[in-house]
Amino acid sequence: MSVEEIDERVRWYITYRQRVLGCTECPARRDCSQPVPGEGSMFPRVFFIGRNPGEKEDDIGRPFVGKAGEVFERFLMEIELERPEIFVTNVCLCKTKKNRLLSRYEISTCVRKFLIPSLKFMKPKVVVVFGAQPNYFINSISKIREYHGKVLKHKMGFKVIPSIHPAMVCYKPEKFRELQKVAKVLDEVLMRT
Ligand code: URA
Repeated sequence: MSVEEIDERVRWYITYRQRVLGCTECPARRDCSQPVPGEGSMFPRVFFIGRNPGEKEDDIGRPFVGKAGEVFERFLMEIELERPEIFVTNVCLCKTKKNRLLSRYEISTCVRKFLIPSLKFMKPKVVVVFGAQPNYFINSISKIREYHGKVLKHKMGFKVIPSIHPAMVCYKPEKFRELQKVAKVLDEVLMRT
């Protein structure tokens, strides 16, 4: 990558962050203390998409830093990936009260304003989508169990792997095995890509 490309991406990210932090477009913004922008490499080897920030993410202003974040870090260690090599974000960038389900309007607004432009700009080759609601929105999948750990082709051009959400492991530790399965598939895809 050239210095110009790096410069372009850094400038893009600065504008993206400012737009995220200033967004008041949907009701989820009233539930949180700050929107949480995606973060990581501007040339990510993998692009991860979760649901929306929880309490800790809302306090700190970074995605996946709470309990689900600890599981996410364990998942990354399985394939020796580190946060600076990947990009991680959510379908909705605001915490919701008592972790309530997001409305269709909240997700589609945030996806249109921030997620789609991020994917179009960074053009990742591989995307992992965590959890039922994000997979419903991104992959039109209503039964995640059927597609968990499968490699699909998304209409935007990238390969996409639907996965259970790392937060599930907080309640059912044995589910980490399911994430290990996704890690193995992802590793194989990265070796071929
Ligand atoms: N933290 C996030 O940033 N996203 C989730 O989906 C869960 C926890």
